Amino acid sequence: MLSYQHSYHAGNLADVHKHAILSWVLNYLTKKDKPLSYIETHAGRGLYDLASEAAAKTGEAAKGIEIAQAWFKGSDPYIRALAAIRARHGKDHYPGSPLIAQSLLRPCDHITLAELHPQEVEALRGAIRAGFDRDQRGATVKIHHQDGFDLAQSLCPPDPRRGLILIDPSWEIKSDYNTVPDFMASLSRKWNVGVQLLWYPVLRDGTHVHMTRRLSQLFPDALCHEVKFPPARDGHRMIGSGMFIVNAPWGLDVYGRDLTQKFRRANS
Ligand SMILES: C[S@@+](CC[C@H](N)C(=O)[O-])C[C@H]1O[C@@H](n2cnc3c(N)ncnc32)[C@H](O)[C@@H]1O
Repeated sequence: MLSYQHSYHAGNLADVHKHAILSWVLNYLTKKDKPLSYIETHAGRGLYDLASEAAAKTGEAAKGIEIAQAWFKGSDPYIRALAAIRARHGKDHYPGSPLIAQSLLRPCDHITLAELHPQEVEALRGAIRAGFDRDQRGATVKIHHQDGFDLAQSLCPPDPRRGLILIDPSWEIKSDYNTVPDFMASLSRKWNVGVQLLWYPVLRDGTHVHMTRRLSQLFPDALCHEVKFPPARDGHRMIGSGMFIVNAPWGLDVYGRDLTQKFRRANS
């Protein structure tokens, strides 16, 4: 039974961290005039209404993107995608990763998304359909109502081989902390050129640490980027956000250092 719903958390500081890095990588890969594959194992609903009851209940976006957007230049790919999606859907809306990808990718690119929750996948289909006008061409998008780990295993190596996968579980299933490193190692054996972006929560009790240690053993050259921020509520376990990046593009470490500086403001 899936109980996690991203609507309560969309636009929080973890999303800012994840989506800024995702946008940077998408922008980097599209500089080359060659098509690419974009895969997501855990897509969510694609578009979030920050004026909704769910968003108001936690107030996470108000302490996240609504403050953090001032940290970025307007030319940053994340802010460009955010502005384009808000111009289309209204300023109260926040894009999930599938819409960010749809906004930054080109007609020659291929997007494949998995989402297991029946309502979320329905909403995702609607958000992707509404992403462009009928006469506009964007990347080809396929949406699967399926387990994202299974889909990625069956799809990799994708065609085209250039590209990236975003692995963004809700971490409701505690065994994911044990199984994700082996999942990523298996993908890497099949698709050694693929960029893998894993998001994970930085937790007060350190639950994530054995996973990041194992990942660093499996991928000694990978980039691990973590930022810290105040918990959303008193007693909340999440005190930061982590991205583990296999085959990190050149220059991402520099962007990461800049992001670290930006997040220092969240703590001051
Ligand atoms: C953190 S949210 C995704 C957020 C999205 N990637 C973004 O950044 O906008 C995780 C999503 O994964 C879905 N989910 C949970 N387990 C899944 C699985 N095994 N396969 C596919 N989707 C799953 C949940 O329903 C939820 O919508």
